[in-house]
Amino acid sequence: MARKFFVGGNWKCNGTTEEVKKIVTTLNEAEVPSEDVVEVVVSPPFVFLTLVKSLLRSDFHVAAQNCWVRKGGAFTGEVSAEMLVNLGIPWVIIGHSERRSLLSESNEFVGDKVAYALSQGLKVIACIGETLEQRESGSTMAVVAAQTKAIADKVTNWSNVVLAYEPVWAIGTGKVATPAQAQEVHCELRKWLHDNVSAEVAASTRIIYGGSVNGGNCKELAAQADVDGFLVGGASLKPEFIDIIKAAT
Ligand code: G3P
Repeated sequence: MARKFFVGGNWKCNGTTEEVKKIVTTLNEAEVPSEDVVEVVVSPPFVFLTLVKSLLRSDFHVAAQNCWVRKGGAFTGEVSAEMLVNLGIPWVIIGHSERRSLLSESNEFVGDKVAYALSQGLKVIACIGETLEQRESGSTMAVVAAQTKAIADKVTNWSNVVLAYEPVWAIGTGKVATPAQAQEVHCELRKWLHDNVSAEVAASTRIIYGGSVNGGNCKELAAQADVDGFLVGGASLKPEFIDIIKAAT
């Protein structure tokens, strides 16, 4: 089954109004493959979501970087899925390792968030990934399988889920996973989906890679059979993000 290439840009906690407008101008002027070939989603901080949505070209889309785990209310500082839907924001990143580590978001909490966001009509980039310590102890697959199970336990319809494998040791470090390392985990994840969810979900779910992707390493990573795209951090704030989009196979 053909899976449309997916490139996400996670701007994290970066930007000013001027910088955001500059990035959007660069994106709007870029010549890239059509939407039939590659799906592009950029994720600015909450405060710039509506500005970016209003300025961004129509063949690119926006994502929030998080949303609350249930209906809005007395949850100071949170942003609800309903609010994102109300603003016409179609995507949301959930379970990023920075939130798992800095805010102690558990596997179960991430699974609940993914399910609730989907229930409100959002499309979800669900993040998983092991730490360097977990990789060096040989527990990579056990860790990412447990993270994926916590999502699969709560999700019935995978058609609006993109799974982002982001080894924590590669995020922001410049230490990108080798194509072989990425392919090995993506292949094992797809096998896990096949064995624990369904053959159809395994075949159709996009599994994207994140962690120090840049214009220089994206082509070789994109050539891997089970790498269906990228979730890009630092490089998504730079013009080289266009090169990464063009790596779409
Ligand atoms: O969500 C993507 C991000 O975690 C990857 O960051 O800067 O290593 O591309 P970076």
